[in-house]
Amino acid sequence: MNDLIAAHGGTLVNRVRSLAELGLSTIDLEQLPNLELNERNFADLECIATGVYSPLTGFVGFADYKQILLEMRLSNGLPWSIPITLASEKALAGKVVLTKNQVPVGILEVSESFTPDRQAEALAVYGTTDPNHPGVAALLAQAPVNLAGDVWLFAVSHGKFANHHFTPLETRALFAQRGWKSVVAFQTRNPVHRAHEYLHKVALETIDGLFLNPLVGETKSDDVPAATRMKAYEVLLEHYYPTNRVLLGAYPAAMRYAGPREAILHAISRKNYGCTHFIVGRDHAGVGTYYGTYDAQEIFLQYTQEEIGIEIIKFEHTFYCKKCGAVVSSRTCPHDKTEHLVLSGTKVRELLTAGAPLPSEFSRPEVAEILRQAYAKEVI
Ligand code: ADX
Repeated sequence: MNDLIAAHGGTLVNRVRSLAELGLSTIDLEQLPNLELNERNFADLECIATGVYSPLTGFVGFADYKQILLEMRLSNGLPWSIPITLASEKALAGKVVLTKNQVPVGILEVSESFTPDRQAEALAVYGTTDPNHPGVAALLAQAPVNLAGDVWLFAVSHGKFANHHFTPLETRALFAQRGWKSVVAFQTRNPVHRAHEYLHKVALETIDGLFLNPLVGETKSDDVPAATRMKAYEVLLEHYYPTNRVLLGAYPAAMRYAGPREAILHAISRKNYGCTHFIVGRDHAGVGTYYGTYDAQEIFLQYTQEEIGIEIIKFEHTFYCKKCGAVVSSRTCPHDKTEHLVLSGTKVRELLTAGAPLPSEFSRPEVAEILRQAYAKEVI
């Protein structure tokens, strides 16, 4: 394992154990109560068990839950911004078998059940209780009781992207193998566009390696599916990136659209993967107009650099300038707004939905072609 950066809290969590290692048999499992996980819970289970959410060793109890909402910290004072919880219709106790599609995937050792105030949670985490906010809607739709306690995951599934799915232990080993002394992580949920590429390449001018870490968990229905986004990344890397300086890996978690608070969770997760730097651009993890353009950058000021550990690379809103003939920002371009083409995932989705071509200022032609094909299929 490399030691570019310590895991959050100091120790990389690893709670992946086979049934045999846990001293259990399938007959034992049949005696225990079951709880079926949805995609979102399953992704959280994987993130906890593989150490993406270090130092969490399970779903949070009430003391941590309360402190996260009020202070953006765990009860031991460590920065943490979004409670990772597991909802259930009723309180349970002891060992619970966690199932996915009715197949046992792990164990929860229930330490506590509590009934949270979802409205208060929405307000603290999302800054709104508006049910039109996709993160709030998902939260309010949850069952009433939170089950807390340590978890075990029987095996890492590697999901739908087997070639691009790494645990933090694996990414840390790969970074070390490649001899990178610094690694910048990039979170994304949108099809890659030229502004993204600009951020990657500016960072690569001074940092050894780039960990492209597209979120592949649940997203809102009008976001571009993860499989299409991964394909777009593959062609982009093939044609435009120094591949020996890039690792493409899926980030299994669901998108919460919690803007600033989610930026913190995203940064801590990437620190756990072993990255030293994390990019936060404009309206990171935002949706609609719920958050200010740079709220997700400013929120990091609530912690000291030592507490967060990973270094945040902040980017201004970047766009294409016709006069400059390049992607720029207000820090680098003197020209009038009329020369500017705004680049965003929302804009890309709008053009695709309208069947309009993606101009080369927006997307590399190879990426545009993948997206066009995916949208054409959807319309048919
Ligand atoms: S996000 O929900 O994952 O934040 P997206 O995939 O669009 O959405 O953004 C990935 C990262 O790139 C975020 O840090 C975001 O702030 C940044 N970003 C996206 N577009 C721009 C842009 N035009 N200018 C500056 N930063 C951007």
